[in-house]
Amino acid sequence: MQTEAQFRVRRLAPALGAELSGIDFSLPAEALPIKALYAALLEHQLLLFRGQTVPPETQVAIARGFGEVQVHVMNQYHADGFPELYRLSNVDEKGRPTGKHPDRGTLAWHTDGSWQRRTGQATMLYAERVPDEGGGTEWCDMYGAYDALEPTLRTQLAGLRAVHNLDFSRNRRHGEEPMSEEQKRAVPPVDHPIVRTHPDTGRKAVFLGDHAESIVGMDYAAGRRFIDALNARIVRPELVYAHRWQAQDFVIWDNRCTLHRALAYDTANAARVIRRCTVLGEVPA
Ligand SMILES: [Fe+2]
Repeated sequence: MQTEAQFRVRRLAPALGAELSGIDFSLPAEALPIKALYAALLEHQLLLFRGQTVPPETQVAIARGFGEVQVHVMNQYHADGFPELYRLSNVDEKGRPTGKHPDRGTLAWHTDGSWQRRTGQATMLYAERVPDEGGGTEWCDMYGAYDALEPTLRTQLAGLRAVHNLDFSRNRRHGEEPMSEEQKRAVPPVDHPIVRTHPDTGRKAVFLGDHAESIVGMDYAAGRRFIDALNARIVRPELVYAHRWQAQDFVIWDNRCTLHRALAYDTANAARVIRRCTVLGEVPA
């Protein structure tokens, strides 16, 4: 069994992210160093593995090793016979690009599953097909965002909670394909602290992003302005890692201390197929 010390580590950006090599995900899942991977994730916030064959069952097994795996409410995306997997794809059954973006909500900075009481812990993406241009993903370090806030704002944020609502963020980013009434009932709006303490590292991070709709105890319009302004200032260029995908990249990140967004690409002419799995985390505190 490997330990973290046995990986080769290359930092991806000053703020966050590391490429790890010296691991083979085509091995049976029982042979994989799940604990060491999780420890590396806590240290680097984002892990990249290149040139990997990661079978669907291995992706699910790693996720189960990290915690309880989310079965996404948007069940039209379930993939490979595993309800835990969610395929982000713009190709039809013959593998041709359709021109339709599979989830335009991902183009805005967000953190996965912040619209649930128990929010996302880690998300794992495996790239099956990627465009030559565009279609990258960016992550931003929310520990760094918290550390960069001036003390008066930190004090103000310490008492504030934001309401996160998937129906809100999807509707305003998509328009098309609204959630069904049943899906809406399954995920009513929930409120979370804007500053959360990571349960494993003990560090404070800003927890906001595009699913945040309003502020508890604040007039709705004022809350919207407050959220937009805060979302704009927490994403700072020096805190970002921008990833250009290669096919067979496997990426794992920690949703409790990062925001991320996908970048646009030519959905009519370039294929992008990514297999996703999200582990459920804690109720933020
Ligand atoms: Fe996401």
